[in-house]
Amino acid sequence: MTPTTSTERSIATAEAHGAHNYHPLPVVVASAEGAWMTDVEGKRYLDMLAGYSALNFGHGNRRLIDAAKAQLERVTLTSRAFHHDRFADFCARLAEFCGMEMVLPMNTGAEAVETAVKTARKWGYRIKGVPAGRAKIVVVDNNFHGRTTTIISFSTDPEARADYGPYTPGFEIVPYGDLAALEDAVDEDTVAVLLEPIQGEAGVLMPPPGYLPGVRRVTRERGVLFIADEIQSGLGRTGADFACEHEGVVPDMYVLGKALGGGIVPVSAVVSSREVLGVFRPGEHGSTFGGNPLACAVALEVLAMLRTGEYQQRARELGEHLHHELGLLTGGGAVDAVRGRGLWAGIDINPALGTGREISERLMERGVLVKDTHGSTIRLAPPLVIGKDDLDWGLDQLRAVLGG
Ligand SMILES: Cc1ncc(COP(=O)(O)O)c(C=O)c1O
Repeated sequence: MTPTTSTERSIATAEAHGAHNYHPLPVVVASAEGAWMTDVEGKRYLDMLAGYSALNFGHGNRRLIDAAKAQLERVTLTSRAFHHDRFADFCARLAEFCGMEMVLPMNTGAEAVETAVKTARKWGYRIKGVPAGRAKIVVVDNNFHGRTTTIISFSTDPEARADYGPYTPGFEIVPYGDLAALEDAVDEDTVAVLLEPIQGEAGVLMPPPGYLPGVRRVTRERGVLFIADEIQSGLGRTGADFACEHEGVVPDMYVLGKALGGGIVPVSAVVSSREVLGVFRPGEHGSTFGGNPLACAVALEVLAMLRTGEYQQRARELGEHLHHELGLLTGGGAVDAVRGRGLWAGIDINPALGTGREISERLMERGVLVKDTHGSTIRLAPPLVIGKDDLDWGLDQLRAVLGG
């Protein structure tokens, strides 16, 4: 069929020339503001995904755009061959925000996870005294930490892994939530436990009560680093700075990304103690763009905004409302289960009503953009700046799609 509308033409060209590693909803966004996006035909949609939490502060956030514009006019890239005047503040402010000492900036989330893996191994050999080549990292099943060859080597998702071998060794996978299995897997060669405190991609899976404090206890007792991948869960999404906070847990290392770049530039980082990040010597790790002036300027503004506590409070208050409303949907037959915290929810739809993809398409027709994960699960993660009326309108559309 010959494409006739702008949307159809755009999608046909994208499919002809862009690799098919995604299956986007058939909407072509042309502009966005706050929690709303507008497509090439002028139709408006409520963004209930927020770039998987990269847009916690909404589209076109004035403070962030102004900070980016001001920096664009001054200097955008130096490489780390030279110092620049935003780097020191960025590292100091981010370390302070995390209650830690040192920062190693990268760009994408996957790069930060790779950096965490390299850091833990180097710490293991240089500080813990693990024999050369034996370092082990314990991870959990259904994890999502990114797409590099090493990271997918310890994924349990066949789609993410298939046909990318040979895989990187050095990881042991235990069931998420099973503290005894994790404790058994930790041996004298283990340098770290790496996990998402709330598993986003897996469907916003919550840690069982006591699990994260248990992981903290085991890792502390056994001299192993506890690495929390808070790339999606951190920086306000759950109503706190970090998802670990809800469990009263402070890990040895945070891995951050997404919202740190304000939805403008990719900014990620590993944040930890001097003992841990102090293992690097010049030339042992790096990135041309990591910690660039534009990234630092945007991230500094993100941190200033987070320090007000306003976004965390919104996520808490609107999150309570969201989960109350979603809770009412369970028991009626349309929704099997709802999980999440703050402005973040995984909703298992009764498979009889359709796949997650089909539900997402029906919501799209009604002007709400969400993302399905596995099977009949959809995920809600609106920008933290969403208005209560808009959130309620989005929930009305969900109820309509579910026939409620
Ligand atoms: C918990 C977690 N870690 C890592 C990543 C990878 O981040 P990126 O896509 O920026 O490489 C993601 C992305 O969804 C994530 O949710």
